[in-house]
Amino acid sequence: MSNPTLENLQILARESLDSIEASRDADELEMLRVRYLGKKGIVTEQLKLIPTLEPVDRKDFGQSVNSLKQKLNQAIKTRSESLARDAIESQLVSEELDVTLPGRYGTAGSVHPITRTITRMQEIFDGLGFDVAEGPEIEDEFYNFDALNIPAEHPARAMHDTFYVDDSRVLRTHTSPVQIRYMEDHTPPLQVVAPGRVYRCDSDITHTPMFHQIEGLSVGEGVTFGHLKGVLTHFLQAFFEADLKLQFRPSYFPFTEPSAEVDISCVFCGGNGCRVCKQTGWIEILGCGMVHPAVFKHVKIDSEKYTGYAFGLGVERLAMLRYGIDDLRMLFENDVSFLAQFH
Ligand code: PHE
Repeated sequence: MSNPTLENLQILARESLDSIEASRDADELEMLRVRYLGKKGIVTEQLKLIPTLEPVDRKDFGQSVNSLKQKLNQAIKTRSESLARDAIESQLVSEELDVTLPGRYGTAGSVHPITRTITRMQEIFDGLGFDVAEGPEIEDEFYNFDALNIPAEHPARAMHDTFYVDDSRVLRTHTSPVQIRYMEDHTPPLQVVAPGRVYRCDSDITHTPMFHQIEGLSVGEGVTFGHLKGVLTHFLQAFFEADLKLQFRPSYFPFTEPSAEVDISCVFCGGNGCRVCKQTGWIEILGCGMVHPAVFKHVKIDSEKYTGYAFGLGVERLAMLRYGIDDLRMLFENDVSFLAQFH
């Protein structure tokens, strides 16, 4: 005699095992476990049928239900393990790092070539025992001119193409006023360099209305032109890292006597003559001289006891020569592709 209850159980077994096998994740699997094996689960309910069966059928049916329960438990365990493995596997794939991909960089800024040049100059002078000082860019006429032995009506004032701020104040036309301010505040012996911006009402291919100078001043007993020559030679050879020659040409500045302009042997052709030095072999680089007694008088330094030298260098010019920049305007245009070359 066929047993419809046993047959139903077989159908149930196939259906439940198939759905467990097909479950897609832990949640679905748990749902199936409750559906078949929970307190009110379909398989659990089968046990309640036993009392309704013919006594002869009860043993077989009972065993079948229990064996199905075991099979389902085993199937759930197996499926659960395989789902866990799949989960780890897909996590590994999704989190995979492609170490061959190019990185994402932040763009770092760079120090402007002018700042870089000033820092480099200061370091060399620091090694020679010079202090560093600064002064105001809006300067009293007195400091910019009078105290430097350039009285009103002096023709040198006209040479400076001065920007006037008001009747008595100017945008400083050179860093030399810092000499005066420093000597007012310090007693000799003193050695100082003063870098900074200066302004002249002048603008063409080789002049910008704002540019930079670095001033040098050394005052003490027995300071000579020989010391000036030695310091400038050391400085320029260190700055250009080359065995340069220097040439001192007589010149005139109201605040130095004697005065000189200094040329270096061309850093590009070594003195043979090229486009940069206009075939002369020499490049003009700075003005200098021995501090004029009239300047010492303004700052109440005894010129019978003390002597001193001073020099003034153009920063742009040195930066251009050092880095091979052939257009002054590049230094002021803030073109990032130009500036980024100075990392
Ligand atoms: N101040 C001068 C200039 O701007 C340079 C200089 C400085 C000359 C110190 C002599 C001494 O041209």
